[in-house]
Amino acid sequence: MAALLTISPFLAFLLFLLAILSSDSYNFTAHTQFSIREATIDDLQLAFQHNKLTSRQLVEFYLREIRRLNPILKGVLEVNPDALFHADKADQERKAKGAATALFSRSKLHGIPILVKDNIATKDKMNTTAGSFALLGSVVRRDAGVVRKLRKAGAIILGKATLSEWSYFRSDQAPAGWSARGGQGVNPYNLSVTPCSSSSGSAISVAANMVAVTLGTETDGSILCPSSWNSVVGIKPTVSLTSRAGVVPISPRQDTVGPICRTVADAVHVLDVIVGIDNNDNATIETSKYIPKAGYAQFLKRDGLKGKRIGIVRNPFFDFGNNTFLNQTFKQHFKTLRQEGAILVDHLEITNIEEILGNSSGEHTALVAEFKIFLNSYLKELVASPVRSLAEVIAFNNKNSKLEKVKEYGQGTFLKAESTKGIGDVEKAALLNLEKLAKNGFEKVMRKNKLDALVAAGGLATPYPLLPQVLATGGFPGIIVPAGYIDSVPFGVCFGGLRGSEPKLIEISYAFEQATKIRKSPSFKD
Ligand SMILES: *[C@@H]1O[C@H](CO)[C@@H](O)[C@H](O)[C@H]1NC(C)=O
Ligand SMILES: *[C@@H]1O[C@H](CO)[C@@H](O)[C@H](O)[C@H]1NC(C)=O
Ligand SMILES: *[C@@H]1O[C@H](CO)[C@@H](O)[C@H](O)[C@H]1NC(C)=O
Ligand SMILES: *[C@@H]1O[C@H](CO)[C@@H](O)[C@H](O)[C@H]1NC(C)=O
Ligand SMILES: *[C@@H]1O[C@H](CO)[C@@H](O)[C@H](O)[C@H]1NC(C)=O
Ligand SMILES: *[C@@H]1O[C@H](CO)[C@@H](O)[C@H](O)[C@H]1NC(C)=O
Ligand SMILES: *[C@@H]1O[C@H](CO)[C@@H](O)[C@H](O)[C@H]1NC(C)=O
Repeated sequence: MAALLTISPFLAFLLFLLAILSSDSYNFTAHTQFSIREATIDDLQLAFQHNKLTSRQLVEFYLREIRRLNPILKGVLEVNPDALFHADKADQERKAKGAATALFSRSKLHGIPILVKDNIATKDKMNTTAGSFALLGSVVRRDAGVVRKLRKAGAIILGKATLSEWSYFRSDQAPAGWSARGGQGVNPYNLSVTPCSSSSGSAISVAANMVAVTLGTETDGSILCPSSWNSVVGIKPTVSLTSRAGVVPISPRQDTVGPICRTVADAVHVLDVIVGIDNNDNATIETSKYIPKAGYAQFLKRDGLKGKRIGIVRNPFFDFGNNTFLNQTFKQHFKTLRQEGAILVDHLEITNIEEILGNSSGEHTALVAEFKIFLNSYLKELVASPVRSLAEVIAFNNKNSKLEKVKEYGQGTFLKAESTKGIGDVEKAALLNLEKLAKNGFEKVMRKNKLDALVAAGGLATPYPLLPQVLATGGFPGIIVPAGYIDSVPFGVCFGGLRGSEPKLIEISYAFEQATKIRKSPSFKD
């Protein structure tokens, strides 16, 4: 199908239409009196409670949708062969204990299918490969910390989502959303534009209703950018608010695991389950001080924008050139934010923004050295693996260059990483510089103006997800919400804040979402 797409997007689209029309499962409403498409976690739980839906029906629906849509969209890499077994178990538990027991009032995810990015370990029949054939057949020691929390909450791991291979850390030549195992992920809103990197499969799949909710990971833009391009909500949590144990790493200094969902409320319900201490990722201990005792759902408040101070840095976050449509759209959004009670602090400046976004920030220097260290230790920890070091992954790619498209896409970032020798003077200087940039840049503007959040246009609206990069190097959290469409192509609006500011970001993004309700289902057109 990937070949078809490159030969003729039109032909692919025709096949796709055929697949939709010939589907016997299209009108699921007919069987259950309940429409699963676009249903939220709250909708699904209510349907469970009123015996209008079972987890088995829900999983069967998504499995059919995956069979129907995934040959084109390629958002799903593997399906869990035990998903129906777990669904039956969830149905039995619900029947036995009743929907009103403590378990179910505590866990919104009980019986809900979730897709996790393929760099997140699952100790089950599925592979964990970061999209690469080099890791096929590797055996993980245990579930990733976040997966353990999901299973404990009763969520059903439906499968693995595709991604940019190695979270786009092999080279910078491959198209976003491509991996050797998963093929080319496709944006369901417009089959010929990018799904963006690297948690693309998660965003594609949840946007196209192939699953209820998903997890992605972000090192620099990888949750926020695909969420923006696929018109879904992404939460990039404060670094180490969620455990990174069992996640194929780039650098624990920037890596974070977070939800990608169709609504802010869904994402917050997932966040509530995955945050917290994990003894296999000790950084979660310190960061757990930020987690509110009553969880995050309490911040889903319709009047959440009231009194919030939101900063606007026009250059570069709203630099649309002469694009009057984007200019008008965001003018309207600013108006909405004000009408909902926010105080906009306009025309701010991040004095060192060019250095933060530039080549000399030290980000790349630090990441390549850290990647080698942490990938090597991830590979050594595996129970079994065809590759045990970055050097062996590089050798694998050279030996299987056709399979891994090494001629086309290279492995330059790998080679650069392999040539590093730990954290030396150069890397230490880079790390110091990154800290200084965060402190004198984003943090300074936030504190000086007593801001609750900074706002920025995302995705298509700017040439590169600029705010995500600022957030990435400082370990700061961000939430992206759908903000509009140019023709069929979606873009989002991003709210970023200081470490631990998730409660405020949730209030802001939920109230904005409720006031605007911009998300619509994908159109599946070229
Ligand atoms: C789907 O099923 C419902 C209920 O039976 C029916 O009212 C509706 O017309 C059907 N829709 C399509 C597209 O067939
Ligand atoms: C894991 O990979 C093996 C080897 O390719 C494959 O046979 C198996 O089906 C994969 N597991 C799943 C759940 O897809
Ligand atoms: C976490 O810290 C504890 C002591 O506080 C230590 O025993 C343990 O080895 C640490 N775990 C990791 C994975 O670093
Ligand atoms: C924007 O301005 C440039 C010149 O500054 C011009 O070449 C371009 O066509 C303009 N684009 C639009 C959409 O007006
Ligand atoms: C829209 O364009 C005007 C005039 O160039 C500019 O002053 C304003 O800041 C722009 N608005 C946004 C939201 O970019
Ligand atoms: C960043 O550095 C690379 C070489 O490492 C160079 O090719 C590129 O032009 C630089 N970009 C900027 C914006 O300076
Ligand atoms: C899809 O995107 C392309 C490239 O931006 C654009 O030319 C095309 O009109 C879009 N298709 C639709 C249906 O909007």
